[in-house]
Amino acid sequence: MTFGPLVLGIETSCDETAAAVVAPGPLVVSSVVASQIDLHARFGGVVPELAGRAHIELLTPVVAEALDRAGASGSPPVDAVAVTCGPGLIGSLLVGLSHAKALAMAWEVPFVGVNHLEGHLFAALLDHPDLEWPLVVLLVSGGHTMLVLVEGLGRYRLLGQTLDDAAGEAFDKVARYLGLGYPGGPAVDRIAAEGDPDAFAFPRALMEEGLDFSFSGLKTAVVRAVEKAPDAPSADVAAAFQVAVVDVLVAKARRAVGATGAKGLCLAGGVAANSLLRRRVEEACHKDGVAALVPSMAMCTDNAAMIAAAGQWRLAHGPASPLSLGADPSLFLGLTDGAPR
Ligand code: KG4
Ligand code: ZN
Repeated sequence: MTFGPLVLGIETSCDETAAAVVAPGPLVVSSVVASQIDLHARFGGVVPELAGRAHIELLTPVVAEALDRAGASGSPPVDAVAVTCGPGLIGSLLVGLSHAKALAMAWEVPFVGVNHLEGHLFAALLDHPDLEWPLVVLLVSGGHTMLVLVEGLGRYRLLGQTLDDAAGEAFDKVARYLGLGYPGGPAVDRIAAEGDPDAFAFPRALMEEGLDFSFSGLKTAVVRAVEKAPDAPSADVAAAFQVAVVDVLVAKARRAVGATGAKGLCLAGGVAANSLLRRRVEEACHKDGVAALVPSMAMCTDNAAMIAAAGQWRLAHGPASPLSLGADPSLFLGLTDGAPR
């Protein structure tokens, strides 16, 4: 690999304000992530208005620190600027997008908008530069649950997706219901370690059918079970819920690998930080004789290194984005042909 130039990446699609510098390789030279967890925790979830304002306050120092740690002090300090242009919260996306355009204009360097979902796919690549295609990627985040066949960089085929809630959203909702706070995924993961996963038999929706997912029934089943057994330990509820989600994710991902003849299974997105999912994917891939690509924790959750890497690849294979590029809160992953936008 080696996509070329030195890229500053900016990510502000949700509740992390992040900047990173990525060199050819792609090689992460610096990566700074300022989390807004403390800001949103008392509201039990991300408050879009507060997130946008916090991005405005945090982005200038975060970018300065990323450049500083990278020793990028030239004029211009980098060769290009890449930024998440969707999907995400519109107010948050606009902060990063405007900032990136202003820097690109001031430095007179190319500017490129990056799809956040493509960024998550590149996160795996930063950790496993030797990966081989085709690969099935299980992309599981707060807003998305998708099985994507990556036939090569930029060539994506959607194999399946959630019909209702995203996996991360289910974790967050169940955590809130159990009073475990925000962000929900890590809280459920932690408490589930002390619970009995067999304490409740929660549904595994669409388990025998196709590659799509559904998690809204599971969330309702958790609420019903707690109403019926209000004294049940939260750890048991969390453990039984978590194993139900992971069972479905792993079964469908294996089915996708089998159906496509992929050489490996790759995890991406915030839910890829889940300890049970990571373990079960490793075990399943070992059994099936395919590569398990489980990214480091830092590369699971939102960061700007993955955006810079995706932007670097986009710039090496196509034109820069026009400065008129807008933010798209529901941007879809550019699927199939891999032709640069
Ligand atoms: O990719 P990400 O950082 O942001 C989005 O693009 O959505 O994913 C955030 C999601 C949240 O729903 C969070 O609860 C979930 O990832 N998450 C986890 C864990 N860590 C983060 N879910 C389950 N187990 C975890 N350990
Ligand atoms: Zn994300």
